[in-house]
Amino acid sequence: KKTVRDIDVQGKRVIARCDFNVPMQDGKITDDTRITAALPTIEYLRDHGAKVILMSHMGRPKGEPKMEFSMKPVADRLSEYLKQDVVFVSSPAVVDDAVRRAAAELEDGQIMLLENVRFRKEETENDPGFALELASLAEIFVQEAFGTAHRAHASTAGIADYLPAVSGFLIEKEVKFLGSAVENPMRPFVAIMGGAKVADKIGVIRSLLSKVDTLIVGGGMAYTFLKAKGLEIGTSLLDEKGVELAGDLMREAEEKHVRFLLPADVRVAAAFDNDAASEVVPVDAIPQDRMGMDIGPETVKLFSEAVREAATVVWNGPMGVFEMPNFAVGTRKIAEALAESDAVTIIGGGDSAAAVKQFGLGDRMTHISTGGGASLEYLEGKTLPGIAVIPELRVPFIGGNW
Ligand code: 3PG
Repeated sequence: KKTVRDIDVQGKRVIARCDFNVPMQDGKITDDTRITAALPTIEYLRDHGAKVILMSHMGRPKGEPKMEFSMKPVADRLSEYLKQDVVFVSSPAVVDDAVRRAAAELEDGQIMLLENVRFRKEETENDPGFALELASLAEIFVQEAFGTAHRAHASTAGIADYLPAVSGFLIEKEVKFLGSAVENPMRPFVAIMGGAKVADKIGVIRSLLSKVDTLIVGGGMAYTFLKAKGLEIGTSLLDEKGVELAGDLMREAEEKHVRFLLPADVRVAAAFDNDAASEVVPVDAIPQDRMGMDIGPETVKLFSEAVREAATVVWNGPMGVFEMPNFAVGTRKIAEALAESDAVTIIGGGDSAAAVKQFGLGDRMTHISTGGGASLEYLEGKTLPGIAVIPELRVPFIGGNW
């Protein structure tokens, strides 16, 4: 794909779509990974003399200018990191005369951030008029929003109808790691899937079954698979509609000679509560009135062994209710197994990325994706609309037209 390296940005107005949809609590950013991940591209544009216009969505304000979803805290954080004032014009319309003026007045190396693009309902409708409003602010479009690349919205896809489009370094990095993991993995290739709903992961599990040597299912989803094997799961999370699918997937794994690992033992509790009394039981002895909250020590051993033998590991979804300290052990142990392994370790975004960071093991992974839904769709082999709009780099051949 064409990247910012392939174009001359000196003196040009460049509009870059980032994914600054960061978790917030009481008006404060609680994890700014998505901001720091975009800095190399922003700094590159700035240092090469571009007038930089950044845009992103935050949350799902559904076309209403709700101030709790304002990009202002992001503008402040960017100013701190970039050590320069990032211009922020608070406009509920995202683009208006004041914003156009501010964009026109930018000097080389200056940076501005637009208000939340989802303050306009036309954003998620991929409305050509809104895409053109955004495009009219600049001369070049840079796609840097990997986390939102699975959405065909005005700022992620439509805008490329009006401006030459290139990708930023984050897109390049995500595609490199996620792409090589699924297309050309070093073997043994082990995928670890967790999280609550089978339905959310069905596509990616199915697609990975054609690629991996071992597929591990843990977390809330595992109980649906255990149920499909005919085991009693007490009051554990059950995705009823997913039982049949789970059975199909296990059969498919067998046909494809993929080793399919499920928990052997689990930590169960009487209530969905960190302080609930809990015990470890084998999966074929889950009491009727108990729910599975985490994987047990035997399972940790089993899964960690598979990780130790792997050359590539892709992990998406926690192994238990890791938000509750008493049920975070399994997820932490698996994160530690990845951290200690020599394999290429790739963490699909969302909860597993949050877990790895919470345990302070972020630096020990090969790559932590900034995409949740986007990384799943990418691993599934789907075409992401936000990436599809970036043209391939065409190399001229001597004497020919191109
Ligand atoms: C994400 O956090 O997954 C992305 O920012 C996309 O957000 P969305 O699911 O609201 O489109």
